[in-house]
Amino acid sequence: MAGIRCVTPTRWRKARYGHSGPSAMISCSGARPLGAPSLLDAHCPHLGAHLGHGGRVDGERLRCPFHGWTFDGAGACVAIPYSPDAPLDRRRVVSWPVAQQGGILFAWWHPTGEAPRFELVRLDEPACGEWSRYRRHRWSVASVWQELQENLVDSAHFRYLHGVQSLPAFDCFEADGPVLEIKMSQDFMTPRGVQPGFIATRLVGPYIASVRFSIGSLAEIRFVTAVTPIEREGVALELSFSARLAGIESPDMSLALIDEVIRQVDQDVVIWNNKAHWPQPMLAPGDGPIMRFRRWTEQFSALGD
Ligand code: FES
Ligand SMILES: [Fe+2]
Repeated sequence: MAGIRCVTPTRWRKARYGHSGPSAMISCSGARPLGAPSLLDAHCPHLGAHLGHGGRVDGERLRCPFHGWTFDGAGACVAIPYSPDAPLDRRRVVSWPVAQQGGILFAWWHPTGEAPRFELVRLDEPACGEWSRYRRHRWSVASVWQELQENLVDSAHFRYLHGVQSLPAFDCFEADGPVLEIKMSQDFMTPRGVQPGFIATRLVGPYIASVRFSIGSLAEIRFVTAVTPIEREGVALELSFSARLAGIESPDMSLALIDEVIRQVDQDVVIWNNKAHWPQPMLAPGDGPIMRFRRWTEQFSALGD
């Protein structure tokens, strides 16, 4: 059905070390595609039907397939078709805040329904023609979000797991509350010889990161990483890639860079699925700012939710 799909909600900030959230649905008006998305819990408050299996978006409303109760985008029940005199107040589905950035929909989820405490990352909108359409890749990982995100600052593994020729240098590691800016530089061997590489990552909260990755003037990609905890030790990782196609010497290399990142994440997943977590790891010079990263993540664990 156009404009309606089931998702597992992603908070753009963290609750606890692994949790399971309710299924949910995003509904969009058919008359105004993607004009005003809403995110509602999946199960109807009446008798529990799943609104994503047969529910219908009708204008700005969502109708349950089971008995026809109808809800607006804020989750309020606005009609019980067979019982027009029934009071409607207090009959509602939980609605979660959503935000659109760079053509991607994000949702805030909190176990007790708290409002967002910070703004979502500002993503560049890929310009039509200059950047490729999004290419999405999704992995299911038997791990926790901390392990996945820590990978961003684990410099030595790029050399030994992913086979990159050199260790990256950290040019910037700046935390400002829930926002963390990381910049790394690294040389890459290319068909045109060794080229300087540059990776700039901005994390906003624990789950969402925006990454720009360039190799000299040859190639550049952007991608958004989204980690969604599904269960105590199970997360979904989704990367949304866009390759620079104009103003760059080798658009083909930009496209190939996406394949390379996917290959590297495939390698990471094997590690994440099987590794242990050491609270006090035996680090060595060259390991990257792993403990500084862990300290940054503590603010989310300290929220007490
Ligand atoms: S379960 Fe949704 S209307 Fe009855
Ligand atoms: Fe990696």
